[in-house]
Amino acid sequence: MIRALTDLDADDRTAALQQIEAIFFLSSASGGTMLGPARDAFYRRWTHYYIEHHPDLVLLAETDGAAIGYLMGCDRSADAQPLYRDLFYYQAFEYCYAAYPAHLHVNIHPDHRSGGVGASLVETFESLCAARRCTGVHLVTAAGARNRAFYERLGYELVSARRVEGRELVLLGHKISSKDK
Ligand SMILES: CC(C)(COP(=O)(O)OP(=O)(O)OC[C@H]1O[C@@H](n2cnc3c(N)ncnc32)[C@H](O)[C@@H]1OP(=O)(O)O)[C@@H](O)C(=O)NCCC(=O)NCCS
Repeated sequence: MIRALTDLDADDRTAALQQIEAIFFLSSASGGTMLGPARDAFYRRWTHYYIEHHPDLVLLAETDGAAIGYLMGCDRSADAQPLYRDLFYYQAFEYCYAAYPAHLHVNIHPDHRSGGVGASLVETFESLCAARRCTGVHLVTAAGARNRAFYERLGYELVSARRVEGRELVLLGHKISSKDK
């Protein structure tokens, strides 16, 4: 089952946020070994904007009442001012945001990967964006990341490749229309 944070009551929301944080660190190569305030700041940098400003686009995939994966996104990337400060690549790809206004981050618990959960979350997010007349979705990942094949199977194509702070990154985009969803 897929639900948005805004579908949950206060207790379920608190539990869901804890599960999201656990999945985030299980999925993060650089954050996994962090401790204390550095760990808190790292998590906040990548999630706070979405939880505070777009809780309706924080989607949870649940099994037996627990989150096994999540997606966080925003349908107006050009307006997300805090992300220009928080995400190291955000400014560098700004010129792509008019053509692909929405963006997403998705992570699945390691025990539940390769079972179609990530694809369901991305497709649900695209449907919500299309219903808001958003015409394109993008994400940024490492040029050599395994997850590129996952996105490409969902129709995402290379839009831009850039080196940012010494890292080779790609922006993958997918055009969407309300007729398709
Ligand atoms: C990428 C990810 C969101 C896909 O969700 P999923 O439910 O596993 O995906 P699906 O079952 O719909 O599709 C499976 C595909 O996902 C990708 N995938 C699976 N495990 C992965 C992993 N550990 N790391 C990166 N990609 C992975 C592969 O392309 C896989 O296809 P394959 O099994 O033929 O290699 C999920 O695997 C994950 O959280 N990976 C680690 C973190 C990550 O890369 N997040 C995306 C950041 S941009």
